[in-house]
Amino acid sequence: MIIPETQRLNIRPVSVADKEMVFEYRSDKEVNKYQGWIPETITDVEVFIDKTSRQLNVPETWFQFVLVEKSINQIIGDIGVHFLDKENRQVEIGCTLNKDFHNKGYATEAVERVLDFLFFDLKKHRVIASIDPENNSSIRLVERLGFRKEAHFIESLYLNGKWVDDLVYAILDREWTERRLSKHS
Ligand SMILES: CC(C)(COP(=O)(O)OP(=O)(O)OC[C@H]1O[C@@H](n2cnc3c(N)ncnc32)[C@H](O)[C@@H]1OP(=O)(O)O)[C@@H](O)C(=O)NCCC(=O)NCCS
Repeated sequence: MIIPETQRLNIRPVSVADKEMVFEYRSDKEVNKYQGWIPETITDVEVFIDKTSRQLNVPETWFQFVLVEKSINQIIGDIGVHFLDKENRQVEIGCTLNKDFHNKGYATEAVERVLDFLFFDLKKHRVIASIDPENNSSIRLVERLGFRKEAHFIESLYLNGKWVDDLVYAILDREWTERRLSKHS
């Protein structure tokens, strides 16, 4: 296990064997309407998993974790980590949950653990999230974790056939450390 388990979740790299469970929630067009990728078939998921990096922490690649609910041994979502820059100190993250598991704190629990891993183990400097301004649950998620809104780009992304705005949220290593220290003191 690369990332230590949380109270309710194992967070592990995706594998091709996960394709059916990933398809089940990723193919939901309504829940995923703010996402750039919505699979039509299980083969689309297979291609997606195949294209993601096998190796963690490689600049300019995405690495995909799945979130496994320990008590039922089911994949309930995923977290993608995009290693952005050549210096390899900045990453983008994105989180998707199966709708049956929304509003139960799973995304917060998982992203918090991934941020600990990125900042404390991989020594990242800055983590960002790119979010549609209408994606309220995502905005609440990152704000709950202490991300700051840094930018609102107007019609900067062409997604699902239309130009949409893009919010960029970010958090720095020193901000995350301060937050974790104050939580534990
Ligand atoms: C973004 C997404 C992962 C957020 O999921 P979420 O369920 O809202 O977030 P959490 O799992 O952390 O749950 C938090 C909510 O559960 C509530 N909650 C209920 N029981 C809880 C518990 N035991 N512990 C913590 N929170 C709990 C919290 O109060 C919070 O509600 P609020 O947002 O109304 O304040 C989800 O909406 C999603 O998958 N969306 C589709 C994909 C997408 O657009 N992703 C964004 C790509 S950047």
